[in-house]
Amino acid sequence: MAPSLLACDFARLGEEIAAVEAAGADLLHLDVMDGHFVPNLTFGPLVVEAVRRLTKLPLDAHLMIAEPHRYVDRFVEAGADVVTVHVEASTDLGRDLARIRELGARAGVAFNPDRGLDAVTSVLDRIDLLLVMSVFPGFGGQAFIADVLDGVREAVRVRAERDLDFVIEIDGGVSPDTAPAARDAGAEILVAGTAIFRSDDYAAAIRAIRGSK
Ligand code: DX5
Ligand code: ZN
Repeated sequence: MAPSLLACDFARLGEEIAAVEAAGADLLHLDVMDGHFVPNLTFGPLVVEAVRRLTKLPLDAHLMIAEPHRYVDRFVEAGADVVTVHVEASTDLGRDLARIRELGARAGVAFNPDRGLDAVTSVLDRIDLLLVMSVFPGFGGQAFIADVLDGVREAVRVRAERDLDFVIEIDGGVSPDTAPAARDAGAEILVAGTAIFRSDDYAAAIRAIRGSK
């Protein structure tokens, strides 16, 4: 379970992080938006660095920014453990993924709901994480697009066929209602913002999404 801080109360960032950590979060998902690749703006390395000092949980930086190669170093220096770039935003995916690993972080690639897995098949042997977007990036609180589960299933199949070992993450509209289908399809890391931070019991929300009692 990877709570997305996008939906948290940023005026109480430290308390929110402590609360999801106590509620069973496995990593923290950080949505970085540039107002260019996506219409929304969020935060940059400065906030990632602050989050780094607030928790020992792994930090999963989801870069929704154009030309991500200009910033990957800064996010790794800020303490991101995983850095994910969008295939739609990168000008040289191979270079960006190699750079992230060279810096000692794990490399992820994300693709939008209107793309198929084939957009990223050429780099599947060079990633640690595959991020399947189940909404168009930019905003929290959108409805889950179930069609993307075909891409998750295909990724599971290709991973076995080619004997690869990336983990599959799904992001957008994940809730206790939509998570079972995502888990069944093979998604291993479930990102959820609204469904956790807008609930009044973070631990119960995390358990429900994870499918544990
Ligand atoms: C969307 C972001 C997601 C988003 C998820 O652009 O990448 O991580 O915060 O939020 P919910 O769970 O509210 O869809
Ligand atoms: Zn995200």
